[in-house]
Amino acid sequence: MLLDFTSLTPLDAYRWLASTVTPRPIAWVSSLSLEGVSNLAPFSFFQVISDEPPTLMINVGSRDDGSLKDTLRNVQATGELVIQLVSFAQAEAMNASAAVLPHGVSEFEQCGIPSQPSLKVKPPRVLGAPVAFECRVAQVQPYPAQAPNCHLIFAEVLLAHVDDAVLNDKGRIDPHKLDVLGRLGGMAYSRTSNIFEMQRPG
Ligand SMILES: Cc1cc2nc3c(=O)[nH]c(=O)nc-3n(C[C@H](O)[C@H](O)[C@H](O)COP(=O)(O)O)c2cc1C
Repeated sequence: MLLDFTSLTPLDAYRWLASTVTPRPIAWVSSLSLEGVSNLAPFSFFQVISDEPPTLMINVGSRDDGSLKDTLRNVQATGELVIQLVSFAQAEAMNASAAVLPHGVSEFEQCGIPSQPSLKVKPPRVLGAPVAFECRVAQVQPYPAQAPNCHLIFAEVLLAHVDDAVLNDKGRIDPHKLDVLGRLGGMAYSRTSNIFEMQRPG
């Protein structure tokens, strides 16, 4: 089978990319509006793109009606966000937080997701997340430049909260304990529970 991406519809291109580039980690992003209303939403077009400076990136698309998503509005207005990883135990809550709610309504409150204060940034963080990265916005890049239809948010990591429960006895992440979600195509998800090791060639 051949797929000519130069002639696919945007929806088909999305479906093929999202169902092949898998599993994708999920950034569960909390932010705060200028009025102080908290917001929470998942994004699977997400990666670590630099370790020096430590930088994560998420891709925020537009809503179907062309309006901006709350995450982008808040992050552009305040310059701060928290990016959480999602444990299997939090799967339902993460999914619920993807609901399209009016600006000014908090997914934390609407979905009953418990939060706790962050230390270096104002947006709250998700209580019980295995890892939470407190970030400041390094750059917001409309993409592609000539006809943007999404925004790339580059987030510099200032501080990470790592749940002691996912650490091994050396104080490092134990992948068997981390158990975070990955996104596959459609409505499918995976867990990081099928793990094996390989030694690199010299
Ligand atoms: C698992 C999952 C992954 C998602 N990934 C993205 C993504 O990468 N980019 C995006 O724009 N929307 C993504 N969405 C949809 C947003 O979460 C959704 O549009 C949400 O309502 C945005 O919320 P906000 O307006 O509060 O920012 C995803 C939804 C789910 C459930």
